[in-house]
Amino acid sequence: MKSLVVGLSFGQLYKDVLLKMGHEVITVDNDPSKQADFLELTTALATHSPFDTAHICVPNHLHYKTAQKVAPCANMVFVEKPGVESTNHWRLLNSLHKPTKFMMTKNNMFRENINEMQQSVDASDLVQINWINKNRIPGPGTWFTNKKYALGGVSKDLLPHLLSLFVQLTNGKYKDYKVQKFDKNQRWSLNDCVGTEYGVVNKDGVYDVDDEAEITLSNGEKTFILKTMWKSNMHDDVAMHFYKDGDSHLESIELGLCPESAYEQMIRSSIVHKDDDAFWNKQLDYDLWIQELINERSIDTVH
Ligand SMILES: NC(=O)c1ccc[n+]([C@@H]2O[C@H](COP(=O)([O-])OP(=O)(O)OC[C@H]3O[C@@H](n4cnc5c(N)ncnc54)[C@H](O)[C@@H]3O)[C@@H](O)[C@H]2O)c1
Repeated sequence: MKSLVVGLSFGQLYKDVLLKMGHEVITVDNDPSKQADFLELTTALATHSPFDTAHICVPNHLHYKTAQKVAPCANMVFVEKPGVESTNHWRLLNSLHKPTKFMMTKNNMFRENINEMQQSVDASDLVQINWINKNRIPGPGTWFTNKKYALGGVSKDLLPHLLSLFVQLTNGKYKDYKVQKFDKNQRWSLNDCVGTEYGVVNKDGVYDVDDEAEITLSNGEKTFILKTMWKSNMHDDVAMHFYKDGDSHLESIELGLCPESAYEQMIRSSIVHKDDDAFWNKQLDYDLWIQELINERSIDTVH
């Protein structure tokens, strides 16, 4: 198996996972300090195509352009969350490159304890999935907090992870759920980013994105509240909380950072199902639904 990783910051994780899986791995990053195999994509593709899998880990605004370029040269293309800027772009990728399979990475779906989560969801009528950081704004003032490059803030960074858990944990019935509330809010500015735990603050940069986002989805019987924050100033709460009969707390399951085994399982499952249209049609449905929600959809009528 031969794999391509484009963008070698977070992409380093893919490189490590793929090497562990026994793949040959070719890397591209235009920053020489990353010591990738290639500084630009064209030469890497010309030299090493075709690839079994390709992993696009560049800043968000480059996902679509990079996926278009890589698609003719790879059987499967994994585009990092939050995918691309619109569902039309995602549809175009799929229709212009029919032989290629695309997945917006949904690593959280492949956590080892997903069945344990499912049992707790089944026993609850209210599920709260939180990714609340005390103080972890990614690279304040860099592309991460600039809407032009990141396409949005925490609603594009952490919310897709929670939405992928949601679609997985509804037993395929996620389309029965109506969006009752979708709030996005910018609470902080660059001046507030002092001593952040994550990245270097570029004081001359831009901070114009949401840093808290919350969605409530309900099918009338069960309600999910998905809550994300980069900087709560309270405490980290990256966990699922389960309730029954109003607000009676059943239990909580810690999420924490997604383990490497989940990324490995996502890639293994995709390879196993590479010729399974049902698997890829399901991925396309999931990916369109999530991207439509975070990019385009307004609140549905509440029952
Ligand atoms: N699935 C997850 O859990 C997860 C976690 C972190 C980041 N991500 C995603 O990964 C992507 C990258 O995030 P990051 O934290 O690594 O960002 P980053 O800015 O730290 O790294 C991006 C890398 O891409 C390189 N790059 C930029 N333009 C390039 C180009 N044209 N060609 C080749 N290389 C180029 C940069 O030099 C840099 O090394 C984002 O889309 C982010 O949402 C996903």
